[in-house]
Parts: sequence; C-alpha cells; structure tokens
Amino acid sequence: MNTYVKKVFTENRQHLTNNWLDTYKSYYEFDNRVVKIKKISGYNIHMELLDGITLDNLDYIKSLDFKTKRFIIDEVVDIFCNQFKFRNENLRLAHIFAHNDFYLKNLMYHNNKVRLIDPESFTIKTLLRPDLRYGKFFESLATLNHILGEGE
Ligand SMILES: Nc1ncnc2c1ncn2[C@@H]1O[C@H](COP(=O)(O)OP(=O)(O)O)[C@@H](O)[C@H]1O
Ligand SMILES: [Mg+2]
Repeated sequence: MNTYVKKVFTENRQHLTNNWLDTYKSYYEFDNRVVKIKKISGYNIHMELLDGITLDNLDYIKSLDFKTKRFIIDEVVDIFCNQFKFRNENLRLAHIFAHNDFYLKNLMYHNNKVRLIDPESFTIKTLLRPDLRYGKFFESLATLNHILGEGE
C-alpha cells in the first residue's frame, strides 16, 4: 500500500493526539471506507494513497454508467449515516465522531469504492450543540442526484 503524506496547517492540527488517532482507527475498523491512517508524525499524516478521483470531477462522474452513479450516491449516503451508528468508549450517548467537511471534494472514487478523505476533519461532536455542517452533505447529495438523471 503506497503512502500519501499530508501536512496539516489548519486549526485542525490541535486535535491530532494519540487519543484522536485511537478513535479514528477504531472508526476505520467500523467503516473502512474512510481513508486508512498509517501513522501521524508531528503534523504529518501518513495515510494510504488512493489512486482515484474526487467526486467533484463532475464530467467524469457524468461519464459513468447509471448503475455506477447509483452505487456512488448510495455509498455517499451510507458513509454519512454510518457516522451516527458508531459507538466507542470515548463517546458519550450525545456524541458522534463525525466528519465536519463532508462534501464532494473530500470523497473519492477509487478501485470501484467510494472513500472519505481529509481525516483530520473528523472530531467528536455533541448533538446537544448541533454544529455539524449538514449542508455540505445535502448539497453534495443534490449535485449527485442531478447528475444521476442526466443522459437518461
Ligand atoms: N490519501 C490520499 N490519496 C490520494 N490523494 C489524496 C489523498 N488525500 C488527499 N488527496 C488529494 O489531495 C487533495 C486535498 O486533500 P485534503 O485531505 O482534502 O486536503 P485539504 O485539507 O486541503 O482539503 C484531495 O482533493 C486529493 O486530490
Ligand atoms: Mg479537503
């Protein structure tokens, strides 16, 4: 498995602790459609290299057959919803470990699989303060839905 190294400069880097990595790794065990992290050294995240394209390449997505487009949209919905099903000893009942930047640029189509990248966007969120960016998911879904009908 080849490695992709990402240097994290944003405010997201503060939470890249061992505790966060343990939670991310157990999330990967739960849903291996998130990108696999091999290790974190300083602010460098070493992850698996995904030799694919991001879903914002709409011309490419449009060129796929209907069955594949339908598979992609189903996977995007399922990856998003799965976040609400994950339980772990670090998470209280009101918590979810969620990706706060869930949109087409952070989803890839690789080896006939849909994968979620930008792993440091995952943090523990409390549903008691609903600040998860749901709009990004809904807009992505609307865009994919639009493309699904094109050419049919
Ligand atoms: N694991 C990976 N394998 C291959 N390409 C990647 C991987 N992670 C990111 N990329 C590429 O780098 C781009 C930016 O990555 P991302 O993690 O989303 O960074 P940012 O935090 O700047 O949004 C992606 O759109 C993708 O093209
Ligand atoms: Mg990104």
